[in-house]
Amino acid sequence: MRILLLGGGGREHAFAWKLKQSPLCERLFIAPGNAGTAALGTNVPLSPNDFEAVGNFARKEKIDMLAVGPEEPLVRGIYDYFKSNDDLKGIHVIGPSRKGAQLEGSKAFAKKFMMERDIPTAAYREFTKETLEEGLAYIGQHATPVVLKADGLAAGKGVLICQTREEARDEFRAMLSGKFGEASARVVVEEFLDGIEFSVFVLTNGKQYKILPVAKDYKRIGEGDTGLNTGGMGSVSPVPFVDENLMRKVENWIISPTLTGLQEIGAPYVGFLFFGLIRVGNNPFVIEYNCRMGDPETEVVFPRIQSDLAGLLLAAAKSTLDEEQLIEDPRCAATVFLVSGGYPEAYEKGKAITGLGEVEGSIAFHAGTRLDDGQVKTSGGRVLALTSYGVDLQAALAASLKNAEKVQFEGKYYRKDIGFDL
Ligand code: AMP
Ligand code: GLY
Repeated sequence: MRILLLGGGGREHAFAWKLKQSPLCERLFIAPGNAGTAALGTNVPLSPNDFEAVGNFARKEKIDMLAVGPEEPLVRGIYDYFKSNDDLKGIHVIGPSRKGAQLEGSKAFAKKFMMERDIPTAAYREFTKETLEEGLAYIGQHATPVVLKADGLAAGKGVLICQTREEARDEFRAMLSGKFGEASARVVVEEFLDGIEFSVFVLTNGKQYKILPVAKDYKRIGEGDTGLNTGGMGSVSPVPFVDENLMRKVENWIISPTLTGLQEIGAPYVGFLFFGLIRVGNNPFVIEYNCRMGDPETEVVFPRIQSDLAGLLLAAAKSTLDEEQLIEDPRCAATVFLVSGGYPEAYEKGKAITGLGEVEGSIAFHAGTRLDDGQVKTSGGRVLALTSYGVDLQAALAASLKNAEKVQFEGKYYRKDIGFDL
């Protein structure tokens, strides 16, 4: 197969790394890719959101499969774009239809979808400018903390957890006045769930599905889960507290009714569905849906899949997933993100990265890197994810930390406590 992969972060480097191992992968293009993906395939300077350019490239290069990494092109309808063009519709698109991607694209849509199907999630109400007064009154009686969510995509920044009702009311007003632009023209106000989070992924064709290795990510910048939220500072797989009993509930109460629901609303869904879950007591609740793989979860989940990823994707596209096996690597995996100094606030780019050649016993997945005259330089906040295997999570983490010391760039920062709460 000739595969075009969209995206350019650590997730896509892990995708490319795994796809490249497949005998089914004849040719791999990554748009736009990064310095890491350049070593595995051909980087193409295309924006994943420019559907016409992506379509033209797919025609020119006779692409057989389009695998979509990030959510934005999916929420904007890249699947539908391909399916509505006669000479593109034969291409297997790994990623849901625009309708299916609404599970991530609109929090209000996702909440309603769950409520109608009794899928466990936090109680909520949604408001717009027209219902601002009602919303303020609702917050006035709400238990604290109060969770506020911008309805639309807000680059992972649209969720606020307010400790007091006063703060919640101020933020609520700010959101409806455009704090996150159009994304917060509608705001979901929801109950705070107190528990421990984990990430479950399925690869599905909308009916059949395979559950991928379970993971947990660490979003806060500081050790002990303190400070600002980031795109993710590290992750681990498996997650010791996610036992068979909990997974049975996840499957019966969450995965299965979600897929049935997608069928009921007539939303084609071939691709990854990511359940951001929280365990409260011994029961799972949905915090959010994403219509794609997670980052940095992919950097531990894919290394723990022994089966051929391209084969699984093809089976999903051809509706033969039930004939496939997804074999998990019994080892544990941990990834540690090296980030730019200052991130997630202002940071500098263009710092030379050295020591990559000395990395031993870890896989260095590139995220915010680019090649500049043969030199790898930083080009983003999250720079590199170092993934290692181990007999247990501690051993995996230790291996990543050892290599984290070897890779150098000015301002480098990383958390040393990934998996600390497990
Ligand atoms: P999201 O952007 O939906 O992933 O939300 C960001 C983070 O906010 C989640 O990973 C949770 O840590 C937290 N969060 C969101 N909703 C809730 C909730 N209802 N209760 C507790 N924490 C939440
Ligand atoms: N790791 C969470 C996400 O990808 O949204």
